[in-house]
Amino acid sequence: MAKHKLIYQIYPSAVGDLRDISAKIPLIADKLHPDYIWLSPIFQSPWVDGGYDVSDYCKIDPRFGTMRDFRHLIEVAKKHDIGILLDLVINHTSIEHQWFRKSELHDPWYKDYYVWLDKPLNWKSFFGGPAFDYSQLRGKYYLHLYDRAQPDLNFNNPRVIKEFTDIINFWKKEGIAGFRVDSANVLAENNLKRGRIPGLPGFFNYYQTPSTIFVLEKLLANKGLFTLAEPVGGEFFSKRKFHELTDKAFDASFNVGTLDVADSFFSIKDRIYPVNYKRWFKKLAKWSVEPAFSMALESHDAPRAPSRFDVNPRVLAMLQFLLPSYNPCIYQGQELGTLNADLSMNINDYPGVQSRQIYRRLRREGKTKRQAMAVVRRTSRDNARQPIDWGEYILQGRQPSSVLNFYSDIIMLWRQDPVIRDGALKVAKATKQGVFEFYRILDKKRYFIHLDFSMKTPSYLKDDHDNIVIRVK
Ligand code: GLC
Repeated sequence: MAKHKLIYQIYPSAVGDLRDISAKIPLIADKLHPDYIWLSPIFQSPWVDGGYDVSDYCKIDPRFGTMRDFRHLIEVAKKHDIGILLDLVINHTSIEHQWFRKSELHDPWYKDYYVWLDKPLNWKSFFGGPAFDYSQLRGKYYLHLYDRAQPDLNFNNPRVIKEFTDIINFWKKEGIAGFRVDSANVLAENNLKRGRIPGLPGFFNYYQTPSTIFVLEKLLANKGLFTLAEPVGGEFFSKRKFHELTDKAFDASFNVGTLDVADSFFSIKDRIYPVNYKRWFKKLAKWSVEPAFSMALESHDAPRAPSRFDVNPRVLAMLQFLLPSYNPCIYQGQELGTLNADLSMNINDYPGVQSRQIYRRLRREGKTKRQAMAVVRRTSRDNARQPIDWGEYILQGRQPSSVLNFYSDIIMLWRQDPVIRDGALKVAKATKQGVFEFYRILDKKRYFIHLDFSMKTPSYLKDDHDNIVIRVK
């Protein structure tokens, strides 16, 4: 089990192509020293879901360059002691993948690569609308837990497992350090029955089923790779936590639920909920002590955290790195305190399939264009997918009191201070208004941390002798 690994996530199109990314690695390494860089998908894709719809897993999408560029990137990263993690989008392919094309045509080898039914079930997709769509060519319905352009693979078929074994080996030979595994808890459906839960029918048929756990172990256990899971769906209703079930397959679990609990189900982006700080802090305290937990406050799937919480980004950095945080993940630009983008009021300007679906849903519910766009602009994950301002990066690098240097210092503390690294956690206070106080204790040494998300009081860390080590107004 890996412990104390810092992961840095890059959403490639916000940086450029692979050469651009390689050129930025020294800058990132100099300030943050991540152990791993996780690249969101760079594989060939028609880009219906920003690369999370792959049409060939062993080809680099031409927008990012060539295999030579990729090898160069691996080398540059190695020089800085950074391992590259690729994003294994495994639950589904693009509708344009050859496997799907052949499956639709009933090719004998490929016909069971996807989940085909004669009659659709009443399951709903995560992006809204039914989870089954009709294929004229095949004369059957196929499952898609996400968009209709992202058909779900059938992991109960050993041939599909074999395909991914080959894909994993292919990239391993190219020198990658591991994978982030997309939608890792919904790979294989146990039953194909009508669902019973209103809201998200079908739920129990696809969340962390025994067959999913089996597939993950088969693909990832003992492969000598660093593996980061992305379980979707927040806290789950299951009795056992995903990372306990998958401890053989994964080193760490990037928990989207971290973002969700702040305001109850933020992954449902068609409502703006007030932040329930007390609940959020309590959850974070409970989860952060688990070694497999990857603490992340931003990703390519959520708007920028300082905008969402309306707080000084340094307070967020304190939350992320002063709680026990074994495998924290920083999302590109987070270390600059990047705010939400000034997104367009015209839905046609949004590349992401999710924003468009939310917009359509809100309009169907009777919201005016303006009202619908006000929600989309604030909650859209496109906020986090905008180009990074590298000029700002260099500027902040030179200013001792910048957000970037704050991140740099707090990461150093997280790596080197034994109390922050290994100290026990004791929560003293968590209020609805956004005050969170806790101790970190190791042997006879004790730190007290006061965080105030309402910004009414300064946030600080003080030691046993009442010396203020960090202070943020
Ligand atoms: C994951 C990704 C998200 C994508 C979805 C479908 O949740 O993080 O960006 O849309 O899977 O692949």
